[in-house]
Amino acid sequence: MDKKPFYITTPIYYPSDKLHIGHAYCTTIADSIARYKRLAGYDVFFLTGSDEHGQKIQRKAQEGNVTPIQYVDKIVASFKLLWEKLNISNDDFIRTSEKRHHEVVQHIFQKIYDQGDIYKAAYEGWYCTPCETFWLERQLVDGKCPDCGRPVETLSEESYFFRMSKYQDRLLAFIEANPDFIQPVSRRNEMINFIKGGLEDLCVSRTTFDWGIPVPFDSKHIVYVWFDALVNYITAAGYLNNREKYAKFWPADLHLVGKEIVRFHSIIWPVILMALGEELPQKVYGHGWLVVEGDKMSKSKGNVIDPLALIDEFGADTIRYYLLREITLGMDGNFSRDALINRINADLANDLGNLLHRTLNMIGRFNAGVIEKPGETAPVDQELLNLVQETTAKYAEAMDNIEINSAIKEVWALISRTNKYIDETAPWALAKDPAKKQRLNTVLYNLAETLRIVAILISPFMPNTAPKMWRQLGIEEAFGDITLQDAKCWGGLKEGTKVAKPEPIFPRIEEKAEEIAENPKSKVSAEKVDAPEKSVQADLISIDEFAKMDLRVAKVLAAEKVKGADKLLTLTVDLGTEERTIVSGIAKHYTPEELVGQNVVMIVNLKPAKIRGIESRGLVLAASSEDQLAVVTAPGMKPGSKVK
Ligand code: MSP
Repeated sequence: MDKKPFYITTPIYYPSDKLHIGHAYCTTIADSIARYKRLAGYDVFFLTGSDEHGQKIQRKAQEGNVTPIQYVDKIVASFKLLWEKLNISNDDFIRTSEKRHHEVVQHIFQKIYDQGDIYKAAYEGWYCTPCETFWLERQLVDGKCPDCGRPVETLSEESYFFRMSKYQDRLLAFIEANPDFIQPVSRRNEMINFIKGGLEDLCVSRTTFDWGIPVPFDSKHIVYVWFDALVNYITAAGYLNNREKYAKFWPADLHLVGKEIVRFHSIIWPVILMALGEELPQKVYGHGWLVVEGDKMSKSKGNVIDPLALIDEFGADTIRYYLLREITLGMDGNFSRDALINRINADLANDLGNLLHRTLNMIGRFNAGVIEKPGETAPVDQELLNLVQETTAKYAEAMDNIEINSAIKEVWALISRTNKYIDETAPWALAKDPAKKQRLNTVLYNLAETLRIVAILISPFMPNTAPKMWRQLGIEEAFGDITLQDAKCWGGLKEGTKVAKPEPIFPRIEEKAEEIAENPKSKVSAEKVDAPEKSVQADLISIDEFAKMDLRVAKVLAAEKVKGADKLLTLTVDLGTEERTIVSGIAKHYTPEELVGQNVVMIVNLKPAKIRGIESRGLVLAASSEDQLAVVTAPGMKPGSKVK
């Protein structure tokens, strides 16, 4: 059966400067929707590109003593590099300087002129060059551009005009009859009010510069840059050169744009299409802006964030995840480095990374790395299985409604629940009892199978991570061939699959943690107890604050030195309900053999930290003064006993 087509576009970006994280945000949203639709079985055409003409670009090129095409070639190359590094899966990249586009713009201009909807007249008015926008006197704010606040220039020249006014009523009727055409609804209402205010005919040519597409029958006129730019969406769909493709993909399903250009896409563009007798796009979605500490990004404020530097530092998937998870689509969102690091540590390293690591680690230790055949399903398993199914359904519904961060939240709720499932089923306890082997196999299978499905669901957001997870789970099937159907079918993981050695997929970003572990003085220490009265008074805490610390007895099951770190030991401890790994800076005072079998006291609810690449989950208490150190122990107590 033929796949259903889905055509999605980003705006085409101005190559007047390098792209910043705000532009990367827009393209990442489009990419995750495109990837989701492919997963859901659609034949997707995903388009992005560059909007290269206009006075602003011509001026910039002059300033740099290069020709406009030399100027844009260089910047467009940097766009393409960014999209490659961000793992953007566009099917085409359109440049408005390309011949295929010139031909379409000239063809359309001629056609609309021939039918009488474009006419020549004298233009007197206001123009904002940075925004490439004409304004009426009444639209100016304090005499300046209402969009960017910069000064406008008076224009008085002979121009061609597009009879927008003729289409006003038809456009309004269309928008009212198609409630989903403009989203979110706040933008829709804005547009309705704008149209009701009256559509003026639009000036669609300029004569003061020549970097653009000449009007076919009057070459001293250059086609107005928005008329030129909007047409890119049908050029790339094959309007003139590939009618079969055009019939398949036009009308576009989704034009994803920033909120400030919704007006061009939901008023000027539909009217051009109406004049051409072409169908209107299904949806124009206006997303919000990414701001930095509440402020718009700008060169003059020095707060422009370079996405390439962020990708190099944190990795593409991490940046993609942050942008999609942190910001509610349609609303403005703040970019903050601290929030990014928090997300990496909490959601990626801790929740997802840990789940994968714990699961693979247990399969390695208890079942020699083999995913064994599951046995009977207990109620606790059924609850997990039900949640997996529900999550997939809710995820698909959210993605179909372009509610990306809701979809992500659903998946993370499943990840948290699965981490809890490990604690509830306690595979380490099952592993000790040969009579519980079947039960152990079931639990480990359910964990690995849930992770297989989680990888599929997160693949539109994190396309590098998902196949990495599959590889670690030992799945040989190529990730590229999977569909959403594979997430819906429980049991896809074949028994007998051999998992790989777990490797951290998201390193924790916590430089301070290592310092603390290597310097036990910052833990509960004898020095502190001996400290003068005054500071003891100053450090008073309430009983509630003390109660927040979960102190417990833990039995050391194994201990070994951390390679290349002479102060560190890795301890495996039994907490009664679970086993944990802790990295402790006590190697200068204890040999591993001295510790095995001891009941140490540890803080259980400390945030996990990555130390020398090892995830440390907890902290062993030790008294220390000068060069002496003694681990606090609780001989004879049951592992897991509370220390109060
Ligand atoms: N060339 C036009 C679009 C023509 S589409 C036929 C244009 N280009 S742009 O480079 O200025 O902006 C492209 C997109 O980037 C817009 O959708 C805009 O909203 C988006 N963003 C620019 N800065 C942004 C943020 N700080 N945050 C989110 N998106 C932002 O307009």
